[in-house]
Amino acid sequence: MTPDARFDEAARTLAAAERVVALSGAGISAESGVPTFRESGGLWEEYRIEEVATPEALAGNPRKVWEFYEMRRQNMQSVEPNPGHVALAELETLFEEVTIVTQNIDGLHQRAGSTRVLEVHGSLWKAKCLEGCGARRDPFPWPASQIPPPCECGSILRPEVVLFGEMLPTDVFEEATSRAVRADVALVVGTSSVVWPAAGIPLAAQSAGAIVIEVNPEATELTERFDISLRGPAGEILPRLYERVDKLRRVA
Ligand code: OAD
Repeated sequence: MTPDARFDEAARTLAAAERVVALSGAGISAESGVPTFRESGGLWEEYRIEEVATPEALAGNPRKVWEFYEMRRQNMQSVEPNPGHVALAELETLFEEVTIVTQNIDGLHQRAGSTRVLEVHGSLWKAKCLEGCGARRDPFPWPASQIPPPCECGSILRPEVVLFGEMLPTDVFEEATSRAVRADVALVVGTSSVVWPAAGIPLAAQSAGAIVIEVNPEATELTERFDISLRGPAGEILPRLYERVDKLRRVA
């Protein structure tokens, strides 16, 4: 099938949907200037996961972990949502239900106008007590006044993000799964689909009958399992897809 024929098929499939779920990853924010993780020049080339993104690192050297997240928060100060984020937000004008399940912690979907965003890996803009006293800071403003920031209970705060080896927030993940299994179409945008259980969300949708459309310049671990693959940057493909689907739904 030619790329144009694949695009037409994706647009027709999406236009016929009522409920849409989109799983996003770092690639959707790449065109905003936010680095991805596993590509050349990505964060996991420069930083070691064991030193900045595990519970052991947080317990052993919280300052180093906080410096990593403060660096990412600082980089976000000059970053704006791109046309890919905006196109996903605009889908809400067309469908009964649009849910964004994002692995990203940057908050760019919300800034682009998406109203139902499930952050399965947490947020750069929230912090909570390391010892679980119940204290939370939402939003946790940048910059932190002290690193690591103290908690009122005498412990310290930690970024409210999921570290490697930690469970995803149960309520958020359950909500994401229930939205996925009632979706007619699942979009998978800008993720390498190697980190589980998030990578399984589109497969849960597919098992329940949804058509899965991947948007990514590269093939991924799960491309073969998905139904339609659109190759290219999200910031180009998603606005085109939105426009085509909008037209198709007006005609119908
Ligand atoms: P990765 O860095 O693993 O993958 C980024 C994906 O985005 C790749 O498949 C790229 O081909 C694709 N990509 C690059 N530019 C793009 C563009 N303009 N439009 C669309 N796609 C583009 O990032 P994730 O899949 O998000 O978790 O990584 C998943 C998780 O691993 C992250 O949430 C993070 C990380 O370790 C935690 O920190 C827990």
